[in-house]
Amino acid sequence: MADVKDAAPGSAVEPVAPASAGTAVVPSEVIENPGFPPHRPRITDVDPAKEALAQRRVTGLFFISIIGSVLAAAFYIAFPIVPGDIASVRVNTLTVGLAMAFSLLGIGIGTVHWAKALISDIEIPEDRHTTKGKPETVARVSEIFTQANEESGFGRRTLIRNSLIGALVFFPLPGIVLFRDLAPANEEPNSLLRHTLWDKNVRLTRDPDGTPVRAADVVYGSAYHIIPEGIEEHEDYLEQKAKAAVLLMRIRPEDLHEEDYKKSWSYDGIVAYSKICTHVGCPVALYEQQTHHLLCPCHQSEFDVSDGAKVIFGPASRPLPQLPITVDADGYLVARSDFHEPVGPSFWERLGEDGRK
Ligand code: FES
Repeated sequence: MADVKDAAPGSAVEPVAPASAGTAVVPSEVIENPGFPPHRPRITDVDPAKEALAQRRVTGLFFISIIGSVLAAAFYIAFPIVPGDIASVRVNTLTVGLAMAFSLLGIGIGTVHWAKALISDIEIPEDRHTTKGKPETVARVSEIFTQANEESGFGRRTLIRNSLIGALVFFPLPGIVLFRDLAPANEEPNSLLRHTLWDKNVRLTRDPDGTPVRAADVVYGSAYHIIPEGIEEHEDYLEQKAKAAVLLMRIRPEDLHEEDYKKSWSYDGIVAYSKICTHVGCPVALYEQQTHHLLCPCHQSEFDVSDGAKVIFGPASRPLPQLPITVDADGYLVARSDFHEPVGPSFWERLGEDGRK
């Protein structure tokens, strides 16, 4: 039996029996489906001048999108990011972002305006039916597509169609240019990410004030954000910090499960791990002292600090690299060496100490 909402406009609908007493209110008389209200032509349907104006607006918006895409690529080249120069980062982000916004808005607003002002807005009801791929159905679908093409003017309004195609072709351009940022042009990524500012006897200092950390001051359950001593003197300070950032935690030595060759990498329960998530490089920052779990807020990877920062949950596939540490003669924590593997996410050419990606 047909439901009211399934019926074509103008058709009569039989009352439906209730599923059970008290669960539905059922009308006792036949209800006439009112159908759609009469169609009201838009100004662009009746005035050719307005239609032409709308057409020019839509075309103009698609051209704005093309200009935005080209400008985004041009700004990226004209205002490069200079390592260590935060002003260049801001100018690059602002100009490329603004141009991409125009590119997106041009396509978005142009498409909406085209649909609202020029594509036919006559609503056509269609009764539900079972979908079967009969030859008549295929023929009908083809007929509908042809009709839609004619009504929307997609085939006929060639200027709008071609400018839309042009906007869509140019739209990925900024993305292609931005791919250049995925890796430096002339440097081998293994050596780039394999070496950080950590080295033998470099002191561990607090981020951001740069004060050195005494082993005796690190209490159980605490966690510190750490950077190498003297990092701020480097020209490419931000890049170096992005690679060398470390999290320092202290847990009870009896809770620590260390592989034999790493037993000298911690100091009295104090361990240091790279802060750069091995999934896609977000900073791991949430430490749960009861469970010794580190959580990456981006995609919820969890690492067990008491067990070599191995992954216990989430999309990361490798443990966080460990920084070998000890103390100097004054009791301050220092690195024993650099990391023994590239920090951060996996990449094609990556080779860790154990030969793993
Ligand atoms: S970047 Fe850390 S889980 Fe994705």
